[in-house]
Amino acid sequence: MSITRRDLAGLAGAAVLASAAEAAGAVPATSGNVTPTPAQQTLIDAAQDVRQRAYAPYSHFQVGAALETEDGTIFKGCNVENLSYGATICAERNAVFQAVAAGHKKFKAIAVIADLPTPITPCGMCRQVLGEFGGETKVICTNLKKDVMVSSVGALLPAAFDFDPSKYK
Ligand code: THU
Repeated sequence: MSITRRDLAGLAGAAVLASAAEAAGAVPATSGNVTPTPAQQTLIDAAQDVRQRAYAPYSHFQVGAALETEDGTIFKGCNVENLSYGATICAERNAVFQAVAAGHKKFKAIAVIADLPTPITPCGMCRQVLGEFGGETKVICTNLKKDVMVSSVGALLPAAFDFDPSKYK
């Protein structure tokens, strides 16, 4: 496998390392039902708070996300649906876009919450968008029952789409 731009950001690298570590019986790529740290709990609380403002008249499925930047700022996002269904934005991307619009591109962690029997994991499109900014970002997946699963963008998006745009000028 050749080294790409994204390897540097930890995305493909994180996935490879995670699966190698898993194969060696070391750190799992995803750790399930864990007790969140106080910082993770703060992020989960923020995600739960914004979830109440989800606009989901079609699916009735409310999602909240809270993204922590490198400097500790928290940006919240909820899903916002549209009658033209494809125009819907997920909670995670809403949070990412708000953070980027405020000048942030380095993210420590994102918490996601919904009312599911098991912790919600971000959809593929949101994983790809999070991956744009690096695979090291922790993903704290949870539900209203307070089940918590902690993973990372790189671990959740192995073999991500990638290319070097400078080679296609
Ligand atoms: N949704 C999210 O907000 N995040 C996800 O990771 C999965 C799906 C939203 C999109 C749509 O409004 C509703 O959940 C049902 O798919």
